[in-house]
Amino acid sequence: MNVKKYYIETYGCQMNEADSELIAGMLEEFSCRSVDKPGEADVILVNTCTVRENAERRAISRLDQFKSLKKKNPDLILGLLGCVAQRDRGKIISEKPFIDLILGPDSYKHLPEIFNGRKFPLVNVKLSKTEVYEGVTPYRRSKVNAWISIMRGCDKFCSYCIVPYTRGRERSRSIKSIVNEAKKAVGDGYKELTLLGQNVNSYRYENYKFPDLLEAVSNVKEVKRIRFTSPHPNDIDDRMLEVMRDHQNICKHIHLPLQSGSSRVLNLMNRGYDQEKYLSVVKKIRTCLSDVAITTDIIVGFPGETEENFLETLNVMDKVVFDSAFMFKYSPRPGTKASLMKDDVSEDEKADRLTRVIEKQREHTLIRNSAFVGSIQEVLIEDLSKKDPNEKMGRTETNKVVIIKKGDAEIGDLVKVNIEKAVGVSLFGEIV
Ligand code: SAH
Ligand code: SF4
Ligand code: F3S
Repeated sequence: MNVKKYYIETYGCQMNEADSELIAGMLEEFSCRSVDKPGEADVILVNTCTVRENAERRAISRLDQFKSLKKKNPDLILGLLGCVAQRDRGKIISEKPFIDLILGPDSYKHLPEIFNGRKFPLVNVKLSKTEVYEGVTPYRRSKVNAWISIMRGCDKFCSYCIVPYTRGRERSRSIKSIVNEAKKAVGDGYKELTLLGQNVNSYRYENYKFPDLLEAVSNVKEVKRIRFTSPHPNDIDDRMLEVMRDHQNICKHIHLPLQSGSSRVLNLMNRGYDQEKYLSVVKKIRTCLSDVAITTDIIVGFPGETEENFLETLNVMDKVVFDSAFMFKYSPRPGTKASLMKDDVSEDEKADRLTRVIEKQREHTLIRNSAFVGSIQEVLIEDLSKKDPNEKMGRTETNKVVIIKKGDAEIGDLVKVNIEKAVGVSLFGEIV
């Protein structure tokens, strides 16, 4: 069969976004062309997430929707990729026989086999200790930000988290190949590079650690902005902060997942730090980087979380005043340690706690953002408004969204913006 057009839909974290770009890169090598409408494609790939139950449900329901396209085009190849494929292949093979391709996160190099007359379904979910997709050129979607995956997998085994089971053990790419990819991206006109890993600061290659890599990438000529996500609080060391302080092109933003403010719950979560340690990391960060933005992830309703434990989370939020946060209701994931604990916080209670953290975070984001009003910020333009061609969207170094009402700028420009107001989660201003 002469496969030509492909369509990829991506769910989940930035690692999945980056993986989809690698997958697209491999398909482009086979003279395939990407299309924006699934109805026009010969190959439809859904790159899935299973971190919470609703993420998994959403991805699977998409596959059911695409099934109907097979009636019109019997040659259509429908593929399930990513973390759901890794976890649920057995169930999917028996329940959804219309799926032709099931590949886990370490098996994407098998993808081109669909062009070699391979029999369907093609299933491969073998986790690898070494796969880092060396030599695959990503086909990037953004024109401004280039994702660069620097390590894969996770060895932390937080008790609630499925990632170590879907992504396998930690492994890092060579520093040389990462720096080469950074140079190429800059040569291709990318203004921003984002270094990615499930535990980005656990990076380790030969004798090089994360701060060495950060420094090497920041020394690439003409790199305007470097970001990285997500670091683990336990792996933040002085050197990482000093490298950030000493290199102007490393954005002053750290995503520092808290998960819970209660030391008791943190212990049950196997996070490896307590409230005191977390707050001391925050203090260290702010001492070294005075204007840094700190964002976080919070889970409410973990098994056994009492009202008192939950109040400690609110209390830590008050102490830190995060710039923004992703907040989730605990969702038991079969196969994890926490799934063996009694999921004893009622759905109503989880919903109520989630509302309360969201409410607090909304106040804190506004406090943090209001401090920018009246200042001039450098903003990287990411998008033009579809409604109003004069309106543009960009981000500050601290990762805050800025809506710009007036002034000339194109996507990819770095401009100086006078911040006039802070509303909701955004800043508003004019180019100076
Ligand atoms: N490796 C990254 C991201 C992991 S997944 C890190 O450790 O920071 C992103 C977020 O999803 C986590 O930080 C956590 O807040 C949330 N999450 C993971 N498993 C979850 C679960 N079972 N229920 C609810 N939220 C979960
Ligand atoms: Fe989802 Fe986690 Fe997999 Fe990312 S790594 S796709 S968040 S399950
Ligand atoms: Fe790993 Fe993060 Fe989970 S550290 S175990 S992926 S929350």
